[in-house]
This record gives sequence, structure tokens and C-alpha cells, in this order.
Amino acid sequence: MKIISEKYTSLQNFSETFKNSKPFPHIVFDNFLDKSFFSELDTDKFTIEKFKNAHLDTFLERNKSNSRNVDLSNKIRILVEELNSDRFVNELRKLTGIDELFQTSVGNTALSNYHEMYQSGFVGTHVDHSSEPETGYPHVLNILIYLTKHWKESWGGSTILANKNGRKIEKIVNYIPNRAVIFLHSPFTFHGVQELNNNEKKRSSVYVDYYSKNKQPYKHLNLDFKNVWFKHPATFILPGISDYFKWKNRSYLKRMFKHKIKSILA
Ligand SMILES: [Fe+2]
Repeated sequence: MKIISEKYTSLQNFSETFKNSKPFPHIVFDNFLDKSFFSELDTDKFTIEKFKNAHLDTFLERNKSNSRNVDLSNKIRILVEELNSDRFVNELRKLTGIDELFQTSVGNTALSNYHEMYQSGFVGTHVDHSSEPETGYPHVLNILIYLTKHWKESWGGSTILANKNGRKIEKIVNYIPNRAVIFLHSPFTFHGVQELNNNEKKRSSVYVDYYSKNKQPYKHLNLDFKNVWFKHPATFILPGISDYFKWKNRSYLKRMFKHKIKSILA
């Protein structure tokens, strides 16, 4: 069964585009999945909405469900397996120049490989967890694939890429069905999802992350920010300065403070 489109069998030729893209290395691939595989995906029927334990509804991650510890549908599982295959990871090494790149085996248990978002959902600007759950190796790369089959631009749900302090949106990657976005993950690659508007349809996506056995994984890249990795939890940017001083936001403040100190010392 062909899963990824023929066009993206070899990723070497996209390497320069990936490395030189701003605000940080990334690439967008349209019609990423093989046409017939994409058309057979069952994300419209499959839902994780009922798993309330994985449903997030805070003021920084609104109306979103993730699939942690939820059995994925057969098709989504096959797709995630393909993204974690040695063959594909090897292509990602060529794309990124990260020779010691590897896939995690924790899968959809400690991490969440499938996400759904509903009416007025959004994800505030953030960086993800810094480390592989079992080994602690650096988290260096993400792939997102937009799976909902029909989507209008006016419905929102674009992925945003921000500058090094997460305060300014530098790039908007619109949610277009069967589009893949691959982007570097570092302590300074802030990203998020724009709010969904007037939309009865859910926004589905697959997410797989990758790690490096090298603790200085970005050395070969020319970045607009500190070329370092350090340990940090998922860290969100709060909308306004005053938000940091609200009692309900104290855990966000704590994480941001840790991140700041570590980035100064790094
Ligand atoms: Fe993220």
C-alpha cells in the first residue's frame, strides 16, 4: 500500500529549502499522502471526542482532544507507523542534516499522535516538551499532517510559526487538506494553531515528533537564535504581560520563568 505520495519518496532535494526557511527551518508539502490513501482515511467517522481525559479546554489550549492512550483507527495507525519507519526517518535525516535523528518507541501512550479540534478551538503559541520521554534525548523535529478532507480557509486552524521569543507571528501555514508541515523543534521554535471560526467540522491532524542522540543537534544549522538545546517543559506564551500575574496562570508563569533562566544560561 502506498502511503506517502511518490513526489516525496526522496527528501534530499528539499534540504536547502528546509534549512533556509524562516523564522526557523521548516518545509510545507502539499498533497503529501498518496491520493487514494488520503481518500480512504476515516477521520470523519473516527472520533476521540468522548475521551474526556484527553480533552483540553484551557485559555491557551481550547476545545482540543488528543489521542494519548486511545486506540487509533487502523488507517491512522498505519500512517503513524509509516512516519516512524526507518525508511522515512532516514529521509528526514537527509532533509534536516540531523544525522542522529531517531523515532521514539513510546508512541501514542506518553505522546499523542492524533489531534482533533472543534469550534473556537485554538492552541496558544508554545514550544513542546524538550525531551524524549524515556531517554531524555533532544526533541528536534515535528511533522504535522492535516487530515480533514474538506476545509475552507475562512474556518481558520492555520499553524503559525513565531519569532524566537514567541511574540511575533512570522509565518502562517494555512490548513489545507493533505498538507504536511515539517519543522525544526528547539527551545526557540515557537508555534501554535489559530482559532477555528464558525465551523461545525472538526480539524484533524496527525503529529509525530523526532529526537536526536546528539545533545548539540543544531550545530550544522544557521539559526536566527541561540543554537542550543536545553531541557524544558512545554512552555506557552501568555497573551498579555498582565496574564503572567494572575493566580490561575501561575503554572504557566513558572514554566516561562524556567525557560527564560535556562535560555540565558545556555
Ligand atoms: Fe506544539
